[in-house]
Amino acid sequence: MGVGRDFIGPFQLIRLIRAGNTTQVWEALRDGQTERVALKILMQSHAKDKQEIEQLKHETMVAKHFDHPNVIKIYDYHDTYGIPFISMQLFNAKNLKLEMRERPEFLDLNLQEIVRRCAEGLAHVHERGWLHCDIKPDNYLADEQGNVKLIDFSIAQSLKTKFSLFGRRSSLIRGTRSYISPEQIRRDRLDVRSDVYSFGCMLYELASGKLPYTAANPNELLNKHLRGPIPSLQAANPNVNVEFANLVSRMLAKRPDDRPSDMKEFLLQFNRLRMFRGGVRRRTNE
Ligand SMILES: Nc1ncnc2c1ncn2[C@@H]1O[C@H](COP(=O)(O)OP(=O)(O)OP(=O)(O)O)[C@@H](O)[C@H]1O
Ligand SMILES: [Mg+2]
Repeated sequence: MGVGRDFIGPFQLIRLIRAGNTTQVWEALRDGQTERVALKILMQSHAKDKQEIEQLKHETMVAKHFDHPNVIKIYDYHDTYGIPFISMQLFNAKNLKLEMRERPEFLDLNLQEIVRRCAEGLAHVHERGWLHCDIKPDNYLADEQGNVKLIDFSIAQSLKTKFSLFGRRSSLIRGTRSYISPEQIRRDRLDVRSDVYSFGCMLYELASGKLPYTAANPNELLNKHLRGPIPSLQAANPNVNVEFANLVSRMLAKRPDDRPSDMKEFLLQFNRLRMFRGGVRRRTNE
């Protein structure tokens, strides 16, 4: 055993799902088992990178707290086969960022239900005492049936113990700049409303195909999250209902107090409205 061409320890690598900068995600089969799994493997070039290793361990530890149909199950962290990786439930589906590009018609018809499931997955994470801290379309997978899984807990933080892999004093801004909350940029103490903000950015993009804020450089982008006027979703897509546009606007409020207080509160309001006039998303031509 060990690292062979098609094997890592007892895991046979079957198909490369995605190659990132530091990790690869593979579909794999464990010796003697019939159910396929997904492996997130640290690439050889980073196999000794302590921070990357900690991140994989952290992700595994965090995900052990969750048990929900809309949250991916992570089984184990492995470091005895020469290369660090995690094994998890395989969910054969594209992430929502790719779906927007490759299967927009599918989202046009199913977005309301997909968003509800995305929100329920995140509500569960919050109920179990965790913040995801990197909510964005790339971190939700959705299949043909509209099943949804929230993935990627590499920078999740505990709500209770202030435990996070990266101390609050770290000079690094964690999270993805297009979706990051003002308080996460300032590295303030976070609560669930920070994820509510990022979820709002994601909704804006899913509903209109456009990011709420874009800028010529990263600093300007962060500055817009901190101080820029809240963009109008109805201007970006006139097909959205005003109630939904207003809900998204409140999620994008600069002050956490002005947002829905948590994902349950969001769901309560979301389940009473329809995102789009006529029930389907109509895209603008841009
Ligand atoms: N359990 C899984 N089943 C199927 N596909 C998965 C699974 N986990 C991840 N993927 C695929 O791999 C991609 C990257 O996964 P993930 O978000 O966990 O990695 P990452 O840490 O963000 O990587 P990077 O930082 O390099 O983008 C996902 O967008 C998805 O397409
Ligand atoms: Mg990711």
